[in-house]
Amino acid sequence: MLATHQLRAGYGSVAVLFDVDIAVGAGESIAIIGANGAGKSTLVRAICGLIPSMAGTIEKEGRPIQSLPPHARAEHGVAVVLEGRHLFGELSLESNLRIAETQGSKRRNARFDFSFEDVLDLFPFMRGRLGAPVGVFSGGEQQMVAIGRALLLKPDLLILDEPSTGLAPKVVREIVAVIQTLRQKGMSLLLIEQHIGVASECSDRAYVMSLGKIVKELDSTDWHDQSLLAEITQAYLG
Ligand SMILES: Nc1ncnc2c1ncn2[C@@H]1O[C@H](COP(=O)(O)OP(=O)(O)OP(=O)(O)O)[C@@H](O)[C@H]1O
Ligand SMILES: [Mg+2]
Repeated sequence: MLATHQLRAGYGSVAVLFDVDIAVGAGESIAIIGANGAGKSTLVRAICGLIPSMAGTIEKEGRPIQSLPPHARAEHGVAVVLEGRHLFGELSLESNLRIAETQGSKRRNARFDFSFEDVLDLFPFMRGRLGAPVGVFSGGEQQMVAIGRALLLKPDLLILDEPSTGLAPKVVREIVAVIQTLRQKGMSLLLIEQHIGVASECSDRAYVMSLGKIVKELDSTDWHDQSLLAEITQAYLG
């Protein structure tokens, strides 16, 4: 579904990511874990085109997308929920969702055809709040709006940058349940998470990032081995 090869990216002329190789198969959920400043969000920005690639390639289903602008990558089925969510806070919930719905309508033959109604079914709290500006919503509600908006782009790869950070345990459970629903539907996911328990619960395998490089690849057995995860937490997330 998505692969990066020897990807290098950063800010201005300063590289932050070095030779990053990751792959997300169709229907796979992959986690990237790493300490603050490791380069996780930089990788997300490079994949969705918010920062240019300096070297290497990014392929979506075998096609190079690293030279395309962000909207064209979205039209290829790559949607992202950025850290900090980036909603239109003054606009109503319905307007936020309708803007995404309009963009998503450009996607022909999408594998996952989420409608406005489907998003309301996934997040029932939204039904009573459609007219409210999203700026007044709680952090958890805003995260759900950001996910709903990304789904309306009809992606086949959804990238989530720290969806659980800063949220109460009960809300984290709700977000986890939504992620599990998307996995059951077969959507490909790239999940950035600092909370290793949430990451392990929501993904098939993982990459560990440190100082802009992938330093470990964990297969499904490693990734659910609690003593190994404790070691990795100590070595790379401590
Ligand atoms: N807009 C920017 N301009 C310049 N440097 C940046 C910018 N954004 C991030 N960086 C630098 O890039 C490096 C990686 O940051 P990044 O945000 O990708 O880390 P992260 O792994 O997502 O961390 P966190 O877990 O805190 O979100 C850091 O050294 C950071 O200071
Ligand atoms: Mg980050």
